[in-house]
Amino acid sequence: MTRQTPQTPLDPLAPQTPLDPLARQIPLDPLAPLVRLCDVGHCFGADRVLRKVDFKLEAGGCVLLTGHSGAGKSTLTRIMTGLLHPQEGTAHLTVRRVGFVFQDPRLLPWRTALQNVLLPCDAHQQEARRYALEMLEAVGLGRATSLLPGELSGGMRQRVSLARALAVRPDLLILDEPFTGLDGPLREDMKALIESLVGAGQSGAAMAVVQVAHHHQDILSHAGAQFRLERGTLTAVPSMLI
Ligand SMILES: Nc1ncnc2c1ncn2[C@@H]1O[C@H](COP(=O)(O)OP(=O)(O)O)[C@@H](O)[C@H]1O
Ligand SMILES: [Mg+2]
Repeated sequence: MTRQTPQTPLDPLAPQTPLDPLARQIPLDPLAPLVRLCDVGHCFGADRVLRKVDFKLEAGGCVLLTGHSGAGKSTLTRIMTGLLHPQEGTAHLTVRRVGFVFQDPRLLPWRTALQNVLLPCDAHQQEARRYALEMLEAVGLGRATSLLPGELSGGMRQRVSLARALAVRPDLLILDEPFTGLDGPLREDMKALIESLVGAGQSGAAMAVVQVAHHHQDILSHAGAQFRLERGTLTAVPSMLI
């Protein structure tokens, strides 16, 4: 039997290699939490980043994760989403689709705003295109769909990355310091936008959110449980101490 030759060269970020490895079929227990970490530990070489972390996230929950730079926040989110397998303990995940927004937008410069939003989707599906356009509209970029990242401002690029995260209809949205590269009013605008979209249940279902934040003013109004990572240990923080 002959293999069909792809018509276009493989693009490392194209849907053939989904950004979301959790797109695989997982038999879901509807009552299981989205994320349950038990006694999780992780080291990079000789550096211990996480120790004995226990954490649970239910569908639709919104949690805040704080900690100084290098504390292991991004590492923990990678474990929560199945991108990184912990060296110690267990990660029980029922997450199907993850949307990521990072501190830098990470767009492909040679692709338009719409093509970037479609990266983690099946771009040939009419429904995926329709929803990607709807998300671009939702982030206020309905008129910028055919512009390249170089033709967009920093704030617009970050909004494209938000639209891309939402376009997969995530059941878990990771906001890993998405305001860091923005300042002043742009920061406020982006935060208000995320609050309105998350609050509106834009994913069409209960979407859980893990927000990684440094600054008090960046914390989303939806944040429920709040956690702090320090010396590898995760502790729940009473909200008035944040
Ligand atoms: N892939 C990796 N290889 C080696 N070290 C890493 C890797 N990812 C993160 N680290 C290290 O782990 C520590 C925690 O990193 P990170 O989770 O990015 O922290 P944070 O997001 O809190 O700033 C840092 O010292 C970082 O250099
Ligand atoms: Mg980080």
